[in-house]
Amino acid sequence: MIKKTAKIYVAGHRGLVGSAIVRALEKAGHTHLFTRTRTELDLLDTKAVSNFFATEKPEYVFLAAAKVGGIMANKTYPADFIHQNLVIQNNVIEAAHQSGVTKLLFLGSSCIYPKLAPQPIKEEYLLTGTLEPSNDAYAIAKIAGIIMCQSYRRQYGSNFISVMPTNLYGPNDNFDLETSHVLPAMIRRFHEAKLTLTPSVTLWGSGTPMREFLHVDDLAEACLHLMNTYNDAEIVNIGTGEDCTIKELAETIKEVTGYTGTIEWNTEKPDGTPRKLLDVSKLHSLGFQHKISLKEGIKSTYAWYLNHL
Ligand SMILES: NC(=O)c1ccc[n+]([C@@H]2O[C@H](COP(=O)([O-])OP(=O)(O)OC[C@H]3O[C@@H](n4cnc5c(N)ncnc54)[C@H](OP(=O)(O)O)[C@@H]3O)[C@@H](O)[C@H]2O)c1
Repeated sequence: MIKKTAKIYVAGHRGLVGSAIVRALEKAGHTHLFTRTRTELDLLDTKAVSNFFATEKPEYVFLAAAKVGGIMANKTYPADFIHQNLVIQNNVIEAAHQSGVTKLLFLGSSCIYPKLAPQPIKEEYLLTGTLEPSNDAYAIAKIAGIIMCQSYRRQYGSNFISVMPTNLYGPNDNFDLETSHVLPAMIRRFHEAKLTLTPSVTLWGSGTPMREFLHVDDLAEACLHLMNTYNDAEIVNIGTGEDCTIKELAETIKEVTGYTGTIEWNTEKPDGTPRKLLDVSKLHSLGFQHKISLKEGIKSTYAWYLNHL
């Protein structure tokens, strides 16, 4: 168990995941959190990261800083995705080792499993097949981070663990239509269509693919639970274990935003993988279950969006 007074560094605390981890730690009564903005500490700067760890000597580290983006961003900037993610994780993991950090949690992602992994996806499917080409640069960097944590454990006995979250959403999500993921993009599209009295909203594909969504506050609780209890090299999936069709997701968001028009499906646009669902039996056996239903999570995320427009 992490002591309430332990020194905890959350990297990427202004992001979707990092901000939720800070909320979860504060809620659990942790009193010695510290964070740095990118201007205060650029995690791409090896010397600065090493100095920061040597001076501040954090005991626990949540590594939630990364270069993250949707399909378009991954396709357009693959060099930035592989370079920045490798450098950030190399800097933080090595500095954590050098400064004697007690435990570190690294964030992988469900999108780095093989493109054609059997469903639901078990942890052991990592590295068993070809990656999705549109985000292979990002995936290779993230896989390197996981192997790096496992290697430091093997060589130095470092207690560095890695988790594999499914699609996340919640406060501090990215609502920019150019770069956002499907759920926040739909919230914005339906909200704007309601305001402009647009009679219909057209969405990509047939609406039949099935996807899993986890509220980021559940993810943060899961990360804290694993930081308190899990000390193994193997990755752990974090999801709900439940999926829905994109059509059902759209209907729910339509209802929550109060949009009264119709939904059209542009079937000329690609659907992507028919199903993507994590097998969360390991997470459940480790004593964690998500709490926030998709509808409740969408309601609170929409409320957050309205407050932060
Ligand atoms: N979002 C999802 O659905 C999802 C799903 C599975 C896994 N994950 C994983 O969760 C982690 C966090 O993702 P997220 O969605 O929270 O991303 P995010 O909202 O974009 O947050 C990333 C954070 O990293 C910080 N950062 C990036 N480069 C930095 C640098 N050079 N120096 C200092 N800080 C830097 C950003 O700082 P600024 O605020 O200055 O930009 C931001 O606060 C990632 O490892 C991702 O793979 C996310």
